Amino acid sequence: MTADAQAAFASYQAESLEAIAGASSEDALEAVRVEFLGKKRGRLKDLQSLLGQATPEERPVLGKVFNEVRSEVESALQARQSELAVPEVAVAAVDVTLPGPRPVVGRRHPITRTMDDFKDIVGRMGFSVATGPELEDDHHNFVALNIPPVHPARDPLENFYLATASVGREDEDAAVLMRSQTSTVQIRVMEQTAPPLRIVSLGRCYRPDTIDATHHCMFHQMEGLVVDEGITMADLKTVLKHFATAFLGDDVEVRFRPSFFPFTEPSVEVDVLWRDRWLELGGAGMVDPNVFGEVGYDPERVTGFAFGLGIERFCMMRYQVTDIRRFFENDVRFLTQF
Ligand code: FA5
Repeated sequence: MTADAQAAFASYQAESLEAIAGASSEDALEAVRVEFLGKKRGRLKDLQSLLGQATPEERPVLGKVFNEVRSEVESALQARQSELAVPEVAVAAVDVTLPGPRPVVGRRHPITRTMDDFKDIVGRMGFSVATGPELEDDHHNFVALNIPPVHPARDPLENFYLATASVGREDEDAAVLMRSQTSTVQIRVMEQTAPPLRIVSLGRCYRPDTIDATHHCMFHQMEGLVVDEGITMADLKTVLKHFATAFLGDDVEVRFRPSFFPFTEPSVEVDVLWRDRWLELGGAGMVDPNVFGEVGYDPERVTGFAFGLGIERFCMMRYQVTDIRRFFENDVRFLTQF
């Protein structure tokens, strides 16, 4: 009896393992499972009845073999189930014929792009780029620029002064503010460098102006400064005309209107005619001798011109943006158009 039963167990084991290995789909494997391990009519039932016929002495030995065979067949079935399940997923994961996800490529902000274009244009005219801090002291924002203490531009309501910076200090030089113009960099460069000079400085300025379609409380300017012997207003106009033409096209005209800035004399407003409209782009003029005196230059020997242009205004013209606020709303639908 024992020998017969063991032979039956062995052939059950061999046949079921072979059938499991040969099953090539999940459905085929399920049929094998039902045939060999099925609870109702599986062939395991036959082996169980052989066990039932064994003598009490034979039963523990046969029972052990029976359990070993069953668990080996069950493990082989489970392993084959996972094998058959995996390849489909794996094939899908490496299907190189499917189009890949479209990469999201970033781009420069239109103001950054305009500033890069500006640097390229003036770079070709021999200007180098200088930088200065956005958080400024009274001296560089006003005093050294010949702006007297009573000047309306210094009014606390016209500037973003930092309340904490001057706590406990009476002297005006202690005041600290977000710079209201890039002209501050003129002073910083002249303090550090002897003439001749030919620099631009591009960056953010801050004013508590009422925000509308053409004004913001944070905007960008490009400051220009040229100092040498024999510099004239004609040089200023030539540079601005070349600059505006390079950025906007051949058909632009540049116009000077008389104006006043404490740090230039004479001073002008710079307008550009583009597509039949005059647009104000900035201020300019010949550097005031008082400013040269402040930084230790000899006004009898050198002359110079300076200009400060609103970068948003140029960018709006070039890309036909009608509202300055669009630049700072971070709306991707707007920004991806550039
Ligand atoms: C000045 O800031 C002078 N520092 C310019 C200057 C430099 C004159 C060197 C002489 C020599 P103004 O305040 O006009 O000037 O500003 C210059 C330009 O900055 C304006 O024409 C405009 O284009 C831009 N701008 C000024 N305020 C704002 C604002 N709130 N929003 C957007 N752009 C502005």
